[in-house]
Amino acid sequence: MAPDITTPIAPAAAPERSPDRIQGAVHDSRRHESAHKHVSGEAVYVDDIAEPAGLLHVYLGLSSRAHARIRAIDLSPVRQAPGVVAVFTAEDVPGVNDIGCMGKHDEPLFASSLVEHVGQPIFAVAAETRDQARRAAKLAVVEYEDLPAILTIAAARDGERTLVTPPMNLRVGDADAALAAAPHRLEGRLAIGGQEHFYLESQIAMAVPGEDGEVLIHVSTQHPTEVQHIVAHVLDLPSAAVTVEVRRMGGGFGGKETQSNLFAACTALVAGRTGRAAKLRPDRDDDFQITGKRHDFEIDYRVGFDDSGLIQGVDMLFAARAGYAADLSGPVTDRALFHADNGYFYPAARLQSLPLKTNTVSNTAFRGFGGPQGMVAAERVIDEIAYALGKDPLEIRKRNFYGSDPGTDGRSLTPYHQTVTDNILPELVAQLEESSGYWTRREEIRAFNANSRILRKGLALTPVKFGISFTASHYNQAGALVHVYTDGSIQLNHGGIEMGQGLYTKVAQVVAEEFQVDIATIRPTATNTGKVPNTSATAASSGSDLNGKAAQAAARTIKERLVAFAAENWGVAPDAVRFERNRVLVGDRDMSFADLVRAAYMARVQLSANGFYKTPKIHWDRAAGRGTPFYYFAYGAACAEVTVDTLTGEYVVDRVDILHDCGRSLNPVIDKGQIEGGFVQGMGWLTMEELWWDGQGRLRTHAPSTYKIPACSDRPRIFNVALLENAPNREDTIFRSKAVGEPPFMLGMSVLHALSDAVASLAGHRLCPRLDAPATPERVLACIAALREREAASPQP
Ligand code: MTE
Ligand code: MOS
Repeated sequence: MAPDITTPIAPAAAPERSPDRIQGAVHDSRRHESAHKHVSGEAVYVDDIAEPAGLLHVYLGLSSRAHARIRAIDLSPVRQAPGVVAVFTAEDVPGVNDIGCMGKHDEPLFASSLVEHVGQPIFAVAAETRDQARRAAKLAVVEYEDLPAILTIAAARDGERTLVTPPMNLRVGDADAALAAAPHRLEGRLAIGGQEHFYLESQIAMAVPGEDGEVLIHVSTQHPTEVQHIVAHVLDLPSAAVTVEVRRMGGGFGGKETQSNLFAACTALVAGRTGRAAKLRPDRDDDFQITGKRHDFEIDYRVGFDDSGLIQGVDMLFAARAGYAADLSGPVTDRALFHADNGYFYPAARLQSLPLKTNTVSNTAFRGFGGPQGMVAAERVIDEIAYALGKDPLEIRKRNFYGSDPGTDGRSLTPYHQTVTDNILPELVAQLEESSGYWTRREEIRAFNANSRILRKGLALTPVKFGISFTASHYNQAGALVHVYTDGSIQLNHGGIEMGQGLYTKVAQVVAEEFQVDIATIRPTATNTGKVPNTSATAASSGSDLNGKAAQAAARTIKERLVAFAAENWGVAPDAVRFERNRVLVGDRDMSFADLVRAAYMARVQLSANGFYKTPKIHWDRAAGRGTPFYYFAYGAACAEVTVDTLTGEYVVDRVDILHDCGRSLNPVIDKGQIEGGFVQGMGWLTMEELWWDGQGRLRTHAPSTYKIPACSDRPRIFNVALLENAPNREDTIFRSKAVGEPPFMLGMSVLHALSDAVASLAGHRLCPRLDAPATPERVLACIAALREREAASPQP
């Protein structure tokens, strides 16, 4: 059945009230569990937690040099400043002076003899007030001996090319032979900028000391278990002495997967050494300089194709600015390669990563995790082919999609040797083509541009195919803990972090569905390493896939015990015990859920259970470049229309139509929010967000005054967002839903390509504008100028 994408999704304010269903069942459009508190200001973030008596405020002293030896450092002015209680350097760390993620030891908590980027922490100061700590942190006298600093990808590529982590190579077929044999060949280079996460809640941690060296840490992090490990190493404690708790975050977007380790470790160190609670919340400007960002890339591509635009072979090199340490640069650049195909079949491909060491902040996870950079490269290649052949880019896109039938069409093997078995892009794109009126508008835009000297319109429809699972297979596990109390109320805990994406709501829906009780019965509680241990980061979009399944397993264990008890107690067969709409039917008896629970308690039935889940089917052999790293793929497509002022390079996004695949959505309004937010964040990355470092490695765009993220006024004037209907996940995911956290981010590519299309109209669509990202008005203007020069040099045939 063709999905009716014009049907609006039921608004959150009016949840389904059918008497046949519980409230907040799975697939219902249910508001976010904290939405009312986000709006009223009652939602408690780390900085809102009541401060323990005697709390110290911590601030960091930072390197002002990109690469230098520290010859001498005088901290006495810091120690003597008003309100200062203590100062800590590398020497004061009782355990290991390192906060590197995933067991890497290349990131000191405090630099001691060598600084490797501007903004690197050298010491921490603890004072009675935050203002005193901040002022004191600026008083250190550091004597540096400057060393040569490598700041850019270009500089890192020349010369020795130090990598922060081993590169990855993917190979399928013989790329060189395919390129040599192809009727047409093209090559080029694409530059893509980085991105600051700009979470609304900045980094923050508060540590509270306990007995026998124990410490409790409240921290804004996506990865409490890693914070626990890092703090244990830094303080030389067993992990069991460290508890990390997170009720919610005001956004993370990947920027708190590893970057919160530093802040947590500092507060834990101060708490451990002084016996007083300690809190650290950097200013936004410092947060910008201290924490890693999305990797910027330079991508060299070669492609061979036939007269119809069918790709025969590609060869791509992905050079990334990793910063001074590895952090997640390995997995991020790997994921760029995993997505260098986007939705397209490459019969032969060679893909290589180059995670380059630079004297800049260590770059990290950011929504899409390198995938977006890989996909932008694929889309550039498609544009190149289209312009070379004088065809509409959409035609070339459709021509190169993976096959839909892996058994017969021979177009389903990825460069990492996983077979795509769930491709729905051809149908999905066909629907969006239709609903967005692509071809009619293409004609209208052609007519508009023919009569418009200064304003030019552009249109582009780009697809997204995103692999779901952590590529480090062991991360794909999760745990949950469910308690049923004797009044029938239920407490729900799991290892996932609520960062605004609605994870707690979705997992509560799963538990409500299992017990068939209204969602109001379920109380999600703060994520805590003491309740569910050894968790993975909430990342890779897999939060609800993993934690939903784990919570379901816990709920089912309790339910099975209740069923066994009821069957025996009332002498019925187990299948005569049914949970329906807050009631339990036991044969012809009808009782409330709470009554059953109370009776079970009296009969000494255990009403608490944990649950565990691990993703089936996946494995990955990185050295061989082969495996099945992804459980399934999430798909989507966006069609964007823009108007460009060719005198200034300024532009507006006139209209965007999105059709996105959430499988059988767990919660359509929450997913719609993820799609809208993801799209706007992706558009921001590719258009207006620009990080700018000066020649000394100082980030000069370190506040909203200079770093521009999309505002309300930048959203598309017309914005139609629809979920693909009747599209259950073919794999056995939680209620056949699909992950939605990251995939919509890459729908923002449609805007970059619409801008490119508008520019291309100035040269009759005969030359690929090669518009790099971010396509700021300045860059659009420069691209127009370059295109005009190229056109003059290659007159119309
Ligand atoms: N949505 C909000 N509101 N805030 C966030 O920080 N992070 C994104 C995405 N959506 C984020 C968000 C990122 S990077 C990921 S990986 C996923 O949410 C993580 O959550 P999930 O796995 O539960 O989707
Ligand atoms: Mo998301 S970048 O995987 O935290």
